[in-house]
Amino acid sequence: MKRVVVLTGAGISAESGIKTFRDSGGLWEEYDIMDVATPEAWERNAELVNEFYNQRRRQLLGAEPNKAHYALVDLEKKYDVQVITQNVDDLHERAGSTNVMHLHGELKKVRSSIDESLIYELEGWELKLGDKCEKGSQLRPHVVWFGEQVPMIPAAAELSNTAGIYIIIGTSLNVYPAAGLVSYVRPGTPVYLIDPGEINVSHIPGVRHIREMAGTGTRKLVDELMEKSKE
Ligand code: OAD
Repeated sequence: MKRVVVLTGAGISAESGIKTFRDSGGLWEEYDIMDVATPEAWERNAELVNEFYNQRRRQLLGAEPNKAHYALVDLEKKYDVQVITQNVDDLHERAGSTNVMHLHGELKKVRSSIDESLIYELEGWELKLGDKCEKGSQLRPHVVWFGEQVPMIPAAAELSNTAGIYIIIGTSLNVYPAAGLVSYVRPGTPVYLIDPGEINVSHIPGVRHIREMAGTGTRKLVDELMEKSKE
């Protein structure tokens, strides 16, 4: 089966009611990144950071996958689909995608603040200050904060290099190293971008930018690729 690698961002979950970061009305308009998404913020005011992620988790529990997540599951009937997501939600998994790599962590997991290999599933939405790992240190959200390493990047780059088709959905391509993954795609590989926004794609030669919402745009592209797989 031909391999399709899909890189997703906050825009794929927008129609599930989860706010993006940089759109108007997005999360980074309401909050300062430096206050809620850095290791320094956690040192300075863990309560505020923890409350921010508790809210995100609570919102996620009430959200459902949308047409775009389900279309990618359909694509598995004809292709080897590998999803690389910048999102910390679990909507790809809940829709039924088989292979999902999380670049920026997972909201439903927490980890030790002294030993990053100690990762736990959180029951419900609330992490409390005072909840500790087995080594006795405070648990923190299992998310990659600005200024931290992105441990999954080498694996994601390798995967991008094996793509027969590359699809990017709902990301402003502002955040590196995730935005640079496309440079690992082999020359000549068809690359599609589904996003209604005006994205700078000058570093992606030959990309076909489908300026639609993820729900309709992904469905159409998946239908097209399913049809092509018969050729
Ligand atoms: P952004 O908020 O930067 O970009 C969201 C993108 O989604 C924009 O390009 C929008 O045009 C697009 N969009 C909005 N609604 C859409 C819809 N219905 N269908 C399709 N696209 C839509 O989010 P990301 O690029 O994912 O990192 O942000 C990357 C990282 O920055 C995030 O993973 C997060 C953030 O800070 C961390 O927190 C570590």
